[in-house]
This record gives sequence, structure tokens and C-alpha cells, in this order.
Amino acid sequence: MNKLLKKIRNRKASIGVIGLGYVGLPLAVEYALNGYKVYGIDLLEEKVKMLKSGKSYIIDVKKSNVKKVIKNKLLIPSTDFAVIKKVDIVIIAVPTPLRKSKDPDTSYITNVVNSMKRYLHKDMLIVLESTTYPGTTRELIADKIADIGFTLSKDIFIAFSPERVDPGNKEYNTKNTPKVVGGLAKKDTEIACAIYSEVIENIVKVNTLEEAEMVKLLENTFRAVNIGLVNELAIMCHRMDIDIWNVINAAATKPFGFMPFFPGPGIGGHCIPLDPMYLAWRAKMYDYYNRFIELSSDVNSNMPRFIVGKVGELLNKHKKSVNSSKILLMGIAYKRDIDDLRESPSLEIYKLLKEEGAVVDYTDTYVPYFINSKKRKVVRKKVTKSMIKTYDIIILLTNHSDFNYQLFADNAKMIFDTRNGFKAFKYSNIIKL
Ligand SMILES: NC(=O)c1ccc[n+]([C@@H]2O[C@H](COP(=O)([O-])OP(=O)(O)OC[C@H]3O[C@@H](n4cnc5c(N)ncnc54)[C@H](O)[C@@H]3O)[C@@H](O)[C@H]2O)c1
Repeated sequence: MNKLLKKIRNRKASIGVIGLGYVGLPLAVEYALNGYKVYGIDLLEEKVKMLKSGKSYIIDVKKSNVKKVIKNKLLIPSTDFAVIKKVDIVIIAVPTPLRKSKDPDTSYITNVVNSMKRYLHKDMLIVLESTTYPGTTRELIADKIADIGFTLSKDIFIAFSPERVDPGNKEYNTKNTPKVVGGLAKKDTEIACAIYSEVIENIVKVNTLEEAEMVKLLENTFRAVNIGLVNELAIMCHRMDIDIWNVINAAATKPFGFMPFFPGPGIGGHCIPLDPMYLAWRAKMYDYYNRFIELSSDVNSNMPRFIVGKVGELLNKHKKSVNSSKILLMGIAYKRDIDDLRESPSLEIYKLLKEEGAVVDYTDTYVPYFINSKKRKVVRKKVTKSMIKTYDIIILLTNHSDFNYQLFADNAKMIFDTRNGFKAFKYSNIIKL
């Protein structure tokens, strides 16, 4: 049996997780809880410090678990890549954002490869988990490692395994979400599957690195396109005076061939708005111009403007303008029950309303403050009965489950509900998207 495989089977393999964010930290803690020695590397000193003192900064990672693995010395957080000398397996989970030009920014992956290069040794497995275009793992990792003289699939094994974590999801976590794995060659896949099957219940093997990279892009493009479709239908239904939410819920009773997606103020997070653009960019290299991705991106990224336009119409009915109106945004995080602000459409709506001269406040149980486009700190408003009454309109943008919907419904002059969060209330002051 291969030396590395033997170490994995005997639970003697040590793991390095690079990038301790929403993806990397849950995985690092899961392995540590299962008895593996995990070296966690992040460039941010404050994250490493927090972990060392037993604190968690990721909503899905329990503080008690961090405390436990730090105390047992099974999770060793560090900013120093020299620890790579001691590890058998490296899992990379660094950001893959877009540049201003909307091209993929793979510099984080390249930086990781450059930082760990001199510490690499034989009998290692390197897995990339960051979402990216097909060809990245081969070109930016495997080829670079071959350039320094290692024999691939013999000295060092390479794989790609997309991360599917859904922050805030109470049902699916690292352990029970099936994991797709594709290696450079058969042996690489086998070793990568072996390490993942130690902590994940269901492993799905694919044939190549590129298949595994493409799986993630299909999943997220599927979501982006379907959200785009339902957002367009919501705009149409609004014009036709049909309740889109009732339509979707009734359609969802079909037991086959239909999957409900819901409209909203736009898409956010580090995945859905970005990942399809990685695919569209790569396809252009093959002279293929993707139409579905461009179209859904267009519809979804125009939703904040549609919402602001609707707010203008609603105020107008009460002889008011957006300019000078007092507006409260309910929810600034990009989705329900999490604190993630990345690409949140609420931020865009905040900016557009401010540009039109509105007085805009926000409240969000998960986000105590945010930094606006002018680099100023905006602090959330504390919700009280009397403060609710002072707003000309309240816009529900994130349907957090711990909002006091009754209090808002009973006291608001007008509510524009973009998430069907007020579905239980048949009040005339509540207008649905
Ligand atoms: N957040 C999600 O829900 C999610 C889901 C599936 C896939 N992904 C993908 O996973 C990847 C990571 O996303 P995330 O949400 O965890 O990002 P994140 O920003 O939460 O975490 C990334 C971490 O990497 C660190 N980092 C950056 N450069 C580094 C370097 N050179 N060396 C060491 N650490 C470095 C950052 O400081 C940060 O802590 C992305 O490609 C993303 O598309 C994210």
C-alpha cells in the first residue's frame, strides 16, 4: 500500500488547511475533532489569535469545539507556511474573487503555491477546494509543482474537491454533505477520497480534476440561472398583479420535474454572483460565449434597482418621494440567519437610496455595523415600537428568523416585503414583491 494511504488509514496523517474562512475553518475543526493533527494557516494574524484563544469567528463553528481542539493541540493555527514541512496533506481554501474587470482573480491560489513551494516534500497530497474555472488545479498547482522537480502522482498527489458548505444550514454540514473528488490520476483520486471519507459520509468520485472543477460551476450556475428566471417572473407578475409567491408554492406541489426557487432583492455571497463568471470567462478561451450566465447575471444584478424603483412608486402613492423619506432596511446580510455581507444586494440598495436623497437606516440581528461605499461605519438601529413608526417605508431584504415580524407589521406605516417574510400577515400596509 502507498505510504501516504497507509498513514491516512492509521490516522497518523497530519493535515494543513490553508485559508481559515467559511470553508477552511469548519473543515479544519472537523478533522481535528476526528483526532487528526491539523495545522491551520491564515495570513490574518487576528484570526489566528482568536483561534488560539479558543474563539470562533464563523457562525457554523461552535466555540466549544474550537476550544476543545486547541486545548488538545489538535488544531494548531499559524501564519507561518513553514508548518507545511510537517504535514502530509494540504487543503487549500483561499478566496477566488473577481477583478474589477470581472475576470477571475486567482492570485490567492498562486500566492499560496509560492509560499508553500520551498516546504513541500515527497508523499504529500495537495487538494484545492476554492471554486474556480476548469483547468486551474492543473495549470496553477500541478504544473508548478512539476516545475520544481517533483514527480506528479508519485511524489506528490493532486486533487480538486469543491466545497459545498451552505453557511447557516442547520441540516447539512461538513459531515453529511456528499463530497465530489477528482484527482490528477487514479492514485491521486484514491488518496484524496481516502482522507475525505475519514470525516465525510458520502464521497462522489469523478474522473478528472476538470470534471470536479466543473461540477461546482454547474451547481452554482444552475442556481444563478434559476434565481434569474424567477426574478424575471417576479417582475412580470408584479406588472400583471399576480402573487408570485403563491404561484411558486402551488407549482412546488408538483412531485416531479419542478424545483422551487424564490425571488428577492438580488443575489449575494462569495459564490452565486461570482462562480458563473469564472465559467463564462474560461469558455471564451474556447470561443464559446455563454448566454444563460450573462442573461441571469444581468437580471439578478438589476434587482436592487428594480427594488428601489418600486420603493419610489410606493412612496409616490402616499404623495412622498424617495428624496427625504425615512427608510429602514430590515436585513443587510445577503441571506437569512447568517452574518455574511459579501456582495449583499442590501448594500447596493442602501447606496442607491442614499444617492436618491433618502435617510436610510438598517437593522440586522446578525450584523452590528457595516462599512459603506464611502468607507464610513454605519451602525444598526435598535428596534422599538416607537422607532418603527418613524419610517415612511420599511423594506424587508433579509428574512432572518429572529426578526419580530409581528411588531413590524403592527407598527409600520408601510412595508415592502421582498422575501415573503411577512407571509403570515394579511395587512394592507404590507406590499409583497
Ligand atoms: N463561503 C461559502 O459559502 C463557500 C462555499 C463553497 C465554496 N466556497 C469557495 O471557497 C473558497 C474560500 O471561500 P471562503 O468563503 O472560505 O473565503 P473566506 O474569505 O471566508 O476565507 C478565506 C481565508 O483565506 C485567507 N487567505 C487569503 N490568502 C491567503 C494566503 N495566501 N495564505 C493563507 N491564507 C490566506 C483569508 O485571510 C481568509 O481567512 C472560495 O473559492 C469560495 O468561492 C465558498
